Amino acid sequence: MTGARIAVFGAGYVGLTTAACFARLGHDVVCSDVDETKVTTLSRGEVSLHEPGLTTLVEQGLGQGRLRFVLGLPTELSEVDFVFLAVPTPTGPDGAADLSAVEAVLSQIHDVLSDECVVVIKSTVPVGTTRRVQRMIGCPVVSNPEFLREGHAVEDFTHPQRIVVGSEDKDAARRVLALYADDTASAVVSDSASAELVKYASNCFLAMKLSYVNALAELCEEVDANIEDVTEGMSLDERIGSSFLAPGPGWGGSCLPKDTKALLATATAARVDFPLLDATIGTNHRQPHRVMRKVRDAVGGSVRDVRIGLLGLTFKAGTDDLRDSPALAVAGLLAAEGAVLTGYDPCVPVGSEVGPLHVVGTARDAVQHADVVVVLTEWQEFAELDWTCLGDGAGRPVIVDTRDVLPVDKVREAGFRLIATGKRLD
Ligand code: UGA
Repeated sequence: MTGARIAVFGAGYVGLTTAACFARLGHDVVCSDVDETKVTTLSRGEVSLHEPGLTTLVEQGLGQGRLRFVLGLPTELSEVDFVFLAVPTPTGPDGAADLSAVEAVLSQIHDVLSDECVVVIKSTVPVGTTRRVQRMIGCPVVSNPEFLREGHAVEDFTHPQRIVVGSEDKDAARRVLALYADDTASAVVSDSASAELVKYASNCFLAMKLSYVNALAELCEEVDANIEDVTEGMSLDERIGSSFLAPGPGWGGSCLPKDTKALLATATAARVDFPLLDATIGTNHRQPHRVMRKVRDAVGGSVRDVRIGLLGLTFKAGTDDLRDSPALAVAGLLAAEGAVLTGYDPCVPVGSEVGPLHVVGTARDAVQHADVVVVLTEWQEFAELDWTCLGDGAGRPVIVDTRDVLPVDKVREAGFRLIATGKRLD
């Protein structure tokens, strides 16, 4: 299906990707946001998000007249066929998702929409929200959770592994599915509560897998095993697979931390005991402290006045997003104990205000004046640094690699002491 009239509320990485990709598929899209500066810059084709391919799609959509950006309510709202809600649902004070942005949009639009318009909830919302909204407004409501990864949003939208649409109105759900014009992705058409739960269940499963592997890495260090060999051995079992088995300083970002808390809040409200989820979150909270302990041990007990260079600040490689970044959690702990911090990240401009640290312009700057270097994000450029050259100067720093991204032999041959994750090197 092409040529549908679509309004998307929210121009964050989900809303903007959805809007730009639907425009490319031949739909007529208006994308609304409450941030005037964002609307103005997007209308000029300027995209501030670090998402490969997104700027080109926005420029094309604007150029072809298939994509527009507006502040507040679009004037043509009463004529659109679909409204997509892609506004944030951050963690509220009780751990549950805060729905105020979703509710604010609904209260403004529900009198304006035609009866045939389908409201599609793409924001991650607690189970039962779609049914509740359906009771509030006259037109059909469909849950269509998104599974885009930051840094791969356009690719994931264009080649989705699955499209999930859930509604009590199956015809409306199928109409939403048809918008994607994709017959390669597996489709799940379900009731709305199940669709909402697929999203939480998936993100929480990924978080659980990561907490499991981080706990295994800790165990490997104690029993002198090697996490790389262990995960390789595990991953050869097709039922386990090889993804999401890389240990690190904890999982972060704008989704996994929020969604694990929200599902736990949902389970608690439903009086369902879910200790697995509780342990997943608890294990993650321990990770920055574990890194901290390693750094302390590396310098003989105290980090006070120790110069520490942090390599990688974003919550993962391939994004400029610092939200809920484990790297910043580690930086906070180090600063609280009096360390002097310098940080480098390929996606964080030099001189940026990032918590307690001074952001420098090259990895070399972060390494050369440090007593300890902590690798916190798995940027490939750290592996490709000329470690031999970096090791030339006097007083080589100890390196703590929380992502196991550095080439062990090269770094050690260059004379550095390297402390890896999930394996003993000494
Ligand atoms: C996550 C999900 O992967 C997406 O499917 C989902 O659509 C998205 O949340 C969302 O709900 O919007 P994202 O937040 O972009 O995507 O981040 P991930 O790629 O899942 O990474 C999360 C964290 O796990 C990062 O801190 C990353 O460094 C860490 N991680 C990931 C590891 O430590 N090891 C791994 O092997 C993989």
